[in-house]
Amino acid sequence: MRISVIGCGYLGAVHAACMAHLGHEVVGVDVNAGKIESLSAGLAPFFEPDMPALLAEGLDSSRLTFTTDMAITATCNVHFIAVGTPQKKGENGADLRFVEAALEDLLRYLKPGDIVVGKSTVPVGTAERLSAMIRTNMPDATLIWNPEFLREGFAVADTLNPDRLVYGTRTGSETAVEILDGIYGAALERGTPRILTDFATAELVKVAANAFLATKISFINAMAEVCEASGADVSQLADAIGYDPRIGRKFLNAGLGFGGGCLPKDIRAFMARAGELGADQALTFLREVDSINMRRRARTIDLAREVCGGTLLGKRIAVLGLAFKPNSDDVRDSPALSVAAQLQLQGASVVASDPKAVANSAKRFPELEFTETVIEAVKRADAVMVLTEWQEYIDLSPSELRGLVASPNIVDGRNCLDPTKWRAEGWIYRALGRP
Ligand code: UDX
Repeated sequence: MRISVIGCGYLGAVHAACMAHLGHEVVGVDVNAGKIESLSAGLAPFFEPDMPALLAEGLDSSRLTFTTDMAITATCNVHFIAVGTPQKKGENGADLRFVEAALEDLLRYLKPGDIVVGKSTVPVGTAERLSAMIRTNMPDATLIWNPEFLREGFAVADTLNPDRLVYGTRTGSETAVEILDGIYGAALERGTPRILTDFATAELVKVAANAFLATKISFINAMAEVCEASGADVSQLADAIGYDPRIGRKFLNAGLGFGGGCLPKDIRAFMARAGELGADQALTFLREVDSINMRRRARTIDLAREVCGGTLLGKRIAVLGLAFKPNSDDVRDSPALSVAAQLQLQGASVVASDPKAVANSAKRFPELEFTETVIEAVKRADAVMVLTEWQEYIDLSPSELRGLVASPNIVDGRNCLDPTKWRAEGWIYRALGRP
């Protein structure tokens, strides 16, 4: 099968490289010439473990190529649409401009028997509309909606070994389903569950999964608020309830909350779409999930102010961690970067560091001071804030850092440090949801 992957962002670039790894001939298409140039040179435009090796393998074997020229899709039979669906400016809904533009462009080259596979996260109802557009232009082409569940930092593993495959189809798509089964043959042979359903269910699976994950995180962060009010410890609470297999310990880490390019925008787009469908009441709880999440950022700033003696004015604050989660250089809606910027706006002088996300952060908030090393960041600091749980921050030595700072105050925004160890070295340790 010759495959095109339209949209070479996080989702598309990883998908293209993984499909080439599985032995398919793949061409990645994107309108951004810089991105295509970088990918063609074997450089992923984002940090993702395993991507450099996979890109090199695909390019060396010539099974993987990249281009800005959509005409290349005329030589392919299966076309994955993997463009972004960001939040609309000033509204909660998803912006479908890129999906629509990609499909319109692709329609010019579609041939009878071609399969279009939708991977982008879209509001329920979109696939039905896109399928009608395809049928009008090329009645013998078929659309399958096949959402993607990859996590940044594990994107390659999640694509090669998915938990499940979901195909949303219309009746009469049997041949297309067989072809897609062939593409995912390796995973299916390993017994990966495959759910064959309609368009609407397939679209909803994706947003429902993200809404559930966001709710789980905000649930434990709501418990953290109650713990703060009552002197209890949310980390022990999470461990204890997590032993119940019906609850499970995963995604129960209380702290600064969720961010990134998916969960925040996806729950907002889901609420907006439910409103359009007249089902807004069903999702009003997601507004609270969003608010709880945002309150954690404000609470973290309050903790910084408290350890600094009641004011942030003129205080030097070391921020360790800017990425929205460890093993990523992504700062889209990053709680850590948002807190760093707020601290600066409230009069502190912030020196921020991150193992991978300094360059991306500097593009968004050039007024912050950045440094590549922890040592430089913490020198003469009035408070140290750990805002992304990178392993190298978890491994920091409280005694070594003690000699560098102006005052030994540490705020653990991710409940990732051992309070006993830090307090034993004379640090004032504060965290979210812990005494
Ligand atoms: C998420 C979904 O997990 C993935 O299935 C979907 O396809 C895309 O969105 P991702 O954005 O890569 O993936 O990040 P994820 O690992 O889910 O983390 C999201 C955010 O939640 C991060 O900011 C993380 O720090 C936070 N988080 C996660 C918590 O605050 N507590 C937790 O217990 C887990």
